[in-house]
Amino acid sequence: MAPSNGPEKGKGAPRHVAIIMDGNGRWAQAQGKPRLFGHHAGAKRVREIVEACPDLGVKYLTIFAFSTENWKRTQTEVAGLMSLFRRYITKEARALRDEGVRVRFIGDRVRLDKKLVKLMDELEALTEENDRVHLTIALNYGGRDEVARATKRLAQDVALGRLDPDSVDEETLPKYLDTCVLPDPDLVIRTSGEARISNFLLWQSAYAEYEFIDTLWPDFTESVFAEIVDGFAGRERRFGAVLA
Ligand code: IPE
Ligand code: IPE
Ligand code: MG
Repeated sequence: MAPSNGPEKGKGAPRHVAIIMDGNGRWAQAQGKPRLFGHHAGAKRVREIVEACPDLGVKYLTIFAFSTENWKRTQTEVAGLMSLFRRYITKEARALRDEGVRVRFIGDRVRLDKKLVKLMDELEALTEENDRVHLTIALNYGGRDEVARATKRLAQDVALGRLDPDSVDEETLPKYLDTCVLPDPDLVIRTSGEARISNFLLWQSAYAEYEFIDTLWPDFTESVFAEIVDGFAGRERRFGAVLA
C-alpha cells in the first residue's frame, strides 16, 4: 500500500525523486556527434545517480527513459535506443543486484520487443529481494496512457462485479496504476532547460515539487543532484493546508 501524503514543514530529504532525463540529443549535437552518442553518454550517468541515493536519503528514484511519444522519432534513433536498453540491462544487472538496488519498470510493455521485455522481467526478479534503493525505470511510459490502462482494468473489475462503482474515490485509481506500490514523488527534476512535464507521472505528481535545470542529462553529476536534493529541504510543502 503506497504511503499517503500529509501536510508537514518542508524538511528532510525527498523520499522519492523522479527525473526527466532530457537533453541527450542536444549534448551530442553540440559536439557534432549523432544523437545516439548522447543517449549512450546519458545511460552512463545513471549508475552514479542511483549510487548517490542512499547517502542523500533518497529511497525511491524513478527515471524517464522512453515516452509513449518517443516512437515518433526516426527509426534509427528508436532502434538505437531499444538496443541501448537491452545492452544496459544486460551489462548493469549484476552491479544493480550487488548494490542492493530493487529495479522495477513502469510503462506499457505490449509494444516493446519480446527480448527486451524478457530482460526487464528477469532484472525485476533478480533484484526483488533488494531494499536499499528502489529504482523505477519508465520505458514506453506515458501518464495518460497509464491512466487509460488503469481505467480499463478498473472498468473490467466493475463489469465482473468485483468493484462497486459507488466505492470509487481518489484512493481507488492509484491501485490500478503501474506505480501502485510506490509512494508519490516528492521532487521531480527535469534537465535540459525545458519547463514541461511531457506526460510524466501526471497523477502521481499532483503535489510534487519541481526543479527545472539547464544542465543537459549527460552532464548531470552527483554533486548537481546533491545540491538539488539539499535545496528541497528548504521548501515548505503545504498540500493545500495553512501551516501554523
Ligand atoms: C532524452 O534526451 C532522452 C529521451 C527522450 C529518450 P533527448 O533525446 O530528448 O534529447 P534532446 O531533448 O533532443 O536534446
Ligand atoms: C521526455 O523528453 C521523455 C524522456 C526524457 C524519456 P522528450 O524530449 O521526449 O520531451 P519533449 O518532446 O521535449 O516534450
Ligand atoms: Mg528531449
